Amino acid sequence: MAMQNFQNEIAFITGGASGAGFGQAQVFGRAGCRIVIADIRQDAIEAALAALRAEGITAHGLVLDIMDRQAYASAADEVERVFGGPPALLFNTAGVNSFGPVENTTYDDFDWIMGVNLGGVVNGMVTFVPRMIASGKPGHIVTTSSLGGLMASAFAAPYSAAKAAVINLMESYHEGLAKYGIGVSVLCPANIKSNIAEASRLRPAQFGKSGYVESDETVASLHSIHQHGMEPVQLAEFVKAGILANQLYIIPYPEAKEGLKAHYDKIVDAVLPMEVDPEGARKRTEALMAWAAGRAAAFREEG
Ligand SMILES: NC(=O)c1ccc[n+]([C@@H]2O[C@H](COP(=O)([O-])OP(=O)(O)OC[C@H]3O[C@@H](n4cnc5c(N)ncnc54)[C@H](O)[C@@H]3O)[C@@H](O)[C@H]2O)c1
Repeated sequence: MAMQNFQNEIAFITGGASGAGFGQAQVFGRAGCRIVIADIRQDAIEAALAALRAEGITAHGLVLDIMDRQAYASAADEVERVFGGPPALLFNTAGVNSFGPVENTTYDDFDWIMGVNLGGVVNGMVTFVPRMIASGKPGHIVTTSSLGGLMASAFAAPYSAAKAAVINLMESYHEGLAKYGIGVSVLCPANIKSNIAEASRLRPAQFGKSGYVESDETVASLHSIHQHGMEPVQLAEFVKAGILANQLYIIPYPEAKEGLKAHYDKIVDAVLPMEVDPEGARKRTEALMAWAAGRAAAFREEG
């Protein structure tokens, strides 16, 4: 059963101070939600809160680095203190990117880019899912991935890998949380009119050794793409429709269809036809189904 009413619900939005996250704050605030903006940048939070409150939206801001698990738990406690309960809506939207040749990628590139885009989402799920379940209320979780998560690129390896992982993760949570009335969606945008071109400026010193070139020129070249991106409010309207339909994948970019089809056809075409090994396939499938049925019963008892 999909969530149908947003009035007075608490929406926790990571990266809510800018771009896609701020669009979500506007759209769900206008739909009656109480908004929590969790972002790493205090000044951007202040500006976002002022804009939301000027429209009469109830909004609370907190500074959070989604890579910091302890801070994440404190943020969740703060929401319960301020608004009286855990969020019914969790938006894992914060993300960063940085581009360069895959063969130049350093440990720091992997640790920062995957730390925010994958680790940050993991932290959001582990922090909030048990609280959302314990509240006994219906809810919904939307994680922002990227088309890059569906198709890799030699210039965005850690980003694409992290975004691929969160798609897969949301598939698991979508299946696992349905029984609690909690819907799960993954948003895969192609291009958003946002400030992500400047993400490298948020890179913490501890992850400072990059194999990529980052300069005013590279930032400007990224802006030249993103200025033509989808407006965050329009994107958030698609997200709202996706929640109302409890849609697992939200991909409101028609230009992506053909490329995705060609990509996934290649994968499916790589699967050998049944006549190659019908007997082995039958035995493996039966064994897996028997195991899964037994485990499902055991997990139900444990749960
Ligand atoms: N812009 C695009 O074209 C595009 C395309 C596909 C996917 N995305 C994804 O959309 C999401 C939103 O990005 P955007 O394009 O709106 O960019 P944005 O830079 O405008 O917004 C991202 C926000 O996340 C915050 N943030 C960054 N690191 C953080 C951290 N460690 N903890 C907490 N907050 C942090 C930033 O301060 C910023 O306010 C990201 O997950 C991004 O990967 C963007």
